Amino acid sequence: MNAPKSQPQITVLDAGGQYCHLIARKIRDLGVYADVLASDTPAGDLSDRKGLIISGGPDSVYEPGSPRIDPGILMSRSAVLGICYGQQLMAFELGGRVRKGDKGEYGLALLSNVKPHALFRNLNGGQQIWMNHRDQVEAVPPGFDVLASTDTCAIAAMGHRERPLMAVQFHPEVVHTSQGTKILSNFVFDVCGCARDWDPKDRIRPIEQEIRTVAGDRNVFFFVSGGVDSTVAYTLCLRALGPDRVYGIYVDTGLMREGETKYVRRLFQHLGATAFHVEESETEFLKALAGVCDPETKRHIIGEQFVVVQERTLSTGHFLDGNWILGQGTIYPDTIESGGTARADVIKTHHNRVAGIQKLIETGRIIEPLASFYKDEVREIGEELGIPGEFLHRHPFPGPGLAIRCLCSDTEAPVERLEPGWLLPIKSVGVKGDSRSYHSVLALENLPSDEIATELVNRTMEINRVVGLVKARAAIPAMRATIGTLTPARLARLRRADAIVRRLSEESGFEREVWQFPVVLIPIGVEGAPDSVVLRPIHSVDGMTAQVVRMPDQLLRRMADELLKVDGVCGVFYDLTHKPPGTIEWE
Ligand code: XMP
Repeated sequence: MNAPKSQPQITVLDAGGQYCHLIARKIRDLGVYADVLASDTPAGDLSDRKGLIISGGPDSVYEPGSPRIDPGILMSRSAVLGICYGQQLMAFELGGRVRKGDKGEYGLALLSNVKPHALFRNLNGGQQIWMNHRDQVEAVPPGFDVLASTDTCAIAAMGHRERPLMAVQFHPEVVHTSQGTKILSNFVFDVCGCARDWDPKDRIRPIEQEIRTVAGDRNVFFFVSGGVDSTVAYTLCLRALGPDRVYGIYVDTGLMREGETKYVRRLFQHLGATAFHVEESETEFLKALAGVCDPETKRHIIGEQFVVVQERTLSTGHFLDGNWILGQGTIYPDTIESGGTARADVIKTHHNRVAGIQKLIETGRIIEPLASFYKDEVREIGEELGIPGEFLHRHPFPGPGLAIRCLCSDTEAPVERLEPGWLLPIKSVGVKGDSRSYHSVLALENLPSDEIATELVNRTMEINRVVGLVKARAAIPAMRATIGTLTPARLARLRRADAIVRRLSEESGFEREVWQFPVVLIPIGVEGAPDSVVLRPIHSVDGMTAQVVRMPDQLLRRMADELLKVDGVCGVFYDLTHKPPGTIEWE
């Protein structure tokens, strides 16, 4: 979207990693233009780059069809940095040995035995890094030294003694690697010798220009949600094309939070929208979702239902002339986690990427001005556009709404003993080593530290999440998985619980300390109180990784007391799982 002023100095070779575009963005944030190309781009096409970065990815170098690079890039004079899978691929191509892992290492680790190397120059303090891998390098290739290790990864970084080839097993591009930006900056400036040629703030003009080019003489339709992404995307189109050419429709799916429709009306009035309409569709959404439990099926139905409502809306009145395209607030993580880039594994299907919408994409009838940006950038763009903070600093809320926070079950089952807690017989989505996981939940009777929780997830194959019990009407072993689907009663229960949590976190100021605070309803309970509530306050910068945030005790107790008064609620749990290995939403 951001038109290059010159040739990219750095190219990120996409091996399917979820963080691939994040690497390029971090380099651009350093003031150096970087782009992303397919991993197997011929070395000849890259000869004028000052440096190359091979990204992470979900595959194993030994799998047939796993991403490869042109080995020529490792023979040229270009500096190359391998990240995660990129390190394994570099080792593999140059005669090192990669060990296929079964368990892997996910989450925070400490870097130790750091050897002097340009990559690690002038790091001050924190050696905290973020790991997310299954396989690891077991023996470095000839000519390489081990540059750093962690407790469970002997070769956390490696570098060639004479040539500018280096690699790290961890992810310097994510915020949880405390010195990550410095490591990338060392690579870009010290190793590659790049000069600053890019203003990271220079983005609104090129975006508006692109909107005008893509739209041509067609009008743009937006199905807005009131969330930051669609609001910013809509405002960009409003500015680029003028209010007469941009239509906003808010679909009330019945899956939204308390008071949402009123809020959205106020927001669009403020933005100066002249064409704005609320479509009441609760009944048809709930009918289409009746009895459905599988999370991916839920997402598909919601996505397709959106298309039904959308097509119905567009086939009426003055939209009949076909001179319109659909605008969406899709941001980069939405496409990447749906397998939208060439190689990223499907973690879950985003509702902006279902079949009906794919058709519009293929016929060139979609405009997604934010598709290469991350959440934090979207907020910055919103601020630059003059959208008031009240609308921009809302916590993100997923398009499919409460449906993905209302877990369903079609069978009854008892909880099972699993040291040191109880295995809840329900599954939630997670992400391990760049791949989707769908595993059970371990419930503990207390709230241990998140380090302990991380350790438990890493060593227990059958789980991807750990929750601790805050308070309940019954002991965990007396609870069962109950039968529960997306009924109006369960949605109302979740909506009530969510409103209580929102009110108490707003009043206490806790809301401002977290990036997002999903409240999840799980079909775990006892007779008369079939559901429990899970609190999931997290900190994140871009939604790609997340850390659990602990709440002050007094607030937590108050919240639990109020939640237990909601009809049908049996217990209140606290999610202690970082992302990875858990995702933010439970699905
Ligand atoms: P996960 O659960 O993948 O969520 O860790 C990452 C971030 O994305 C949000 N999310 C969505 N946002 N439509 C959206 O607009 C969706 O379908 C969707 N699914 C997840 C989630 O709330 C979190 O902020």
